[in-house]
Amino acid sequence: MTTDDSRYQQTYARSMQDPEGFWREAALGIDWIAPPRSVFDADHGVYGRWFTGGLCNVCHNAVDRHVDAGRGNQPAIFYDSPVTGAKRTVTYSELQAEVRTLGAMLRDLGVEKGDRVVIYMPMIPEAVFAMLACARIGAVHSVVFGGFAAAELASRIEDARPKVILSASCGIEPSRVVAYKPLLDLALTMVSHQPEACLVFQRPELAASLKPGRDHDWAQARSHAASAGRGADCAAMGATEPLYILYTSGTTGKPKGVVRDTAGYMVALRWSMDGLYGVAPGEVFWSASDIGWVVGHSYIVYAPLLTGCTTVLYEGKPVGTPDAGAFWRVIEEYKVSALFTAPTALRAIKKEDPDGRLIGDYDLSSLRTLFLAGERADPDTVVWAEQKLGVPVVDHWWQTETGWAIAGNPVGLGWLPVKVGSTGVPMPGYDVRILDEGGHPVAANKMGSIAIKLPLPPGCLPTLWQQDERFRESYLVDFPGYYKTADAGFQDENGNLFIMGRTDDIINVAGHRLSTGGMEEVLASHPDVAECAVIGMHDALKGEVPCGFVVLKSGVERAPDEIEREIVALVRDQIGPVAAFRLAITVARLPKTRSGKILRGTMKKIADAESWNMPATIDDPATLDEIAQALTARGLVKLPQGA
Ligand code: COA
Ligand code: AMP
Repeated sequence: MTTDDSRYQQTYARSMQDPEGFWREAALGIDWIAPPRSVFDADHGVYGRWFTGGLCNVCHNAVDRHVDAGRGNQPAIFYDSPVTGAKRTVTYSELQAEVRTLGAMLRDLGVEKGDRVVIYMPMIPEAVFAMLACARIGAVHSVVFGGFAAAELASRIEDARPKVILSASCGIEPSRVVAYKPLLDLALTMVSHQPEACLVFQRPELAASLKPGRDHDWAQARSHAASAGRGADCAAMGATEPLYILYTSGTTGKPKGVVRDTAGYMVALRWSMDGLYGVAPGEVFWSASDIGWVVGHSYIVYAPLLTGCTTVLYEGKPVGTPDAGAFWRVIEEYKVSALFTAPTALRAIKKEDPDGRLIGDYDLSSLRTLFLAGERADPDTVVWAEQKLGVPVVDHWWQTETGWAIAGNPVGLGWLPVKVGSTGVPMPGYDVRILDEGGHPVAANKMGSIAIKLPLPPGCLPTLWQQDERFRESYLVDFPGYYKTADAGFQDENGNLFIMGRTDDIINVAGHRLSTGGMEEVLASHPDVAECAVIGMHDALKGEVPCGFVVLKSGVERAPDEIEREIVALVRDQIGPVAAFRLAITVARLPKTRSGKILRGTMKKIADAESWNMPATIDDPATLDEIAQALTARGLVKLPQGA
């Protein structure tokens, strides 16, 4: 298909001119128990709600519907775990049996419609069963990524107030076994809210000790329920009732609980598999992410299963499990049609195998497209992948908040010309605008804040969990009538978007979203630290890594390097290894404006060896030289540059 044949322009235009007609049609892609009263109800919720009055069930649409349609023997999940050596194929019929049973087990533990269930689990099939079983009985799941520390898990438990927590004895990282249960037990000592029960899946690599009364053995509970032939049917869920809460970094240490609704999410994901990803039922879709992230929710679990595809659940890394050919092996073995990953994973592979020699060892003929998201895709990596794999690479832009892509190249509608460095054009329903500080649209190719005119399309967050006001303040207040993405960038004459960076303190470390403000809270809690600033420094592999500058309290006589080591350990302990916080640097003072604002932006430019201008409002210009010297002394910046 040539570019001229693309159905994109007419599809997008229709979604803008007649959004209700567009989404009413898209809603035919899912099964309804009762159709919605209205496609969009502007008087409902913070900015309106989609498909009000409708009744449906996500698990029915992701599982039962396909069994009814004759896909029972088709694999739903290919589980592949190079870190344990395990592989397992779960057909749609088996998946249905598992989620029916687990739904009954959850009900036995007292879980009812609307109750929250925290899922703190590694990348094993039971984690997917857990999400779907919650959806089946109408419980609201909240999955917590395994690389977070106990304190982060605790803050999510405190906010979500789960009736039950589903966990496993351990996760497996290439370098170590991560004992989940002690982290869960520790988190539960930090919170006032206690779950009524914890259901723990014991993995053979490490057994967890269970607390009598509270903790239940997953396998035992499963065999009781299964042998009694008990199973849960799909509950009729209101279209706007929450399917899940997914916590993501905000600008403070307190994570934001992004709410996802039931029907809008299904309709949007189902549309995206056709229109954006161009993947058909029965094909194999692999998202090499983690179920703890939004990409994992939407494109490991929900979208492929809603579409009747087979999803790959990969418990491994792009390199080291065992080598940089791991992704190519999986593609060959399962005949993957589309791969979705983060640029950092490709950079890791490229570093180990720059000539792509291992690619030649595998048959990648099934692969049609590679999709990238999560962080900026550097053109070098995109071109490398395109040349070595011989398939087109689509960079697409989205956020935890939106749940699916805001912009991309709509493969399913027909390719548009690829602009390297751009994340493509807005997807249907997203009225994207580039605004200046006063909220006025800027001209094409001019940088500004990227905003989306309300209402957001189906699938996007309707609010933050029990925090409508925080939702308004964080996203809707700065540009009235718009959702603020907190990304800055520009749009060319053809609608291509270029995402240049965040306007807040969020950084992206190896595709993981983190808040430097949250890290600063941890640094400031160290008894010897008077003040601090954390910036994201450019990193060739991870995109960005955090670097913390600390000023010690006067009178502190301990060696700075000892305190720096403690600070590094503190961040690992409080936020988790995923923060990859390894650089703490003691300085005599921080560069500030005359009104006392820390000049983090200029510090970042110095750290990244970019040219910078002396801020007119700086209090003492020498402080910036001191930062440059501190970085140079660590070998982090070769030549400090100044204006
Ligand atoms: N459970 C426990 N610990 C975890 C974890 C998990 N699920 N995931 C990561 N960690 C730990 C790692 O073991 C590591 O710990 P260490 O400091 O003891 O070595 C730390 O968190 C940092 O991990 P990571 O950022 O993954 O770095 P890495 O050096 O191990 O691997 C990459 C680098 C690029 C291979 C890896 O980050 C990667 O595959 N990234 C892709 C991310 C992604 O898919 N994001 C989703 C958006 S699409
Ligand atoms: P997350 O909520 O973890 O998905 O992170 C969302 C943020 O990641 C966005 O606000 C962007 O800053 C960044 N991001 C995601 N995808 C891209 C992309 N394709 N290009 C540039 N930045 C991206």
